[in-house]
Amino acid sequence: MHILGIDIGGSGIKGAPVDTETGQLLAERLRIKTPKNGEPEPIAEVVNQIAQSFNWNSPIGIGFPAPIKGGVTMMAANVSEKWVGTNADALFTKITGCDCTMINDADAAGLAEMTYGAGRGQPGTVIMVTLGTGIGSAIFHRGQLIPNTEFGHLEIEGEDAEFRASDAARQRDDLSWKKYAKRLNKYLKTMEKLFWPNLFIIGGGISKESEKFIPLLTIDTHVVPAQLLNEAGIVGAALGALRK
Ligand code: BGC
Repeated sequence: MHILGIDIGGSGIKGAPVDTETGQLLAERLRIKTPKNGEPEPIAEVVNQIAQSFNWNSPIGIGFPAPIKGGVTMMAANVSEKWVGTNADALFTKITGCDCTMINDADAAGLAEMTYGAGRGQPGTVIMVTLGTGIGSAIFHRGQLIPNTEFGHLEIEGEDAEFRASDAARQRDDLSWKKYAKRLNKYLKTMEKLFWPNLFIIGGGISKESEKFIPLLTIDTHVVPAQLLNEAGIVGAALGALRK
């Protein structure tokens, strides 16, 4: 099936048509800057602009950095408060005229990795962790996703885990890779003790530099970088629309 995949982030909104049978983008992706206030309607307008640029009138899958239940955005950690309680599926469907399905961004990236990337054919429990402005999580057992796990907000030593171990935290605190790996290790160790996964997949922009910190991790669970990098968000958002 051909679905328009859209990845909404704090700085950019990216989209491209995806062949959900192969995971391939069917055209070069388009990126438009995220509107300044990051509120629902202006963002939906940008999604509409992307849909129109591809002359789109079929289903659209959208990844967004918040838990999404039945099409409704439940929480706003790094996005405008106006999203809380917004029925995103209804709003985006109204503005684009296409059938829109929103899912959490980390769940989207995880679906893409499990289907076409580092998690393909992996048995047991796999946890995808995306490191960016926040920490996103997606947990799979025998390939099945349990959606909306917000493990970036696990409290570790009295603080939100993403405040200490996201890529934004690394940059904010100007950490060396060694120091950052120590913080990430603590986070993954906590996750390991709670879920005993077979594999961690590390995604987000930082995964391009995985050789600088993954070898420094000392947890027992195998840790690998994501394989789809830039495209995981778009491909996974399209796959999310298939789950409706
Ligand atoms: C949000 C999650 C999101 C993650 C990565 C967190 O702050 O609460 O929903 O998946 O950031 O973007």
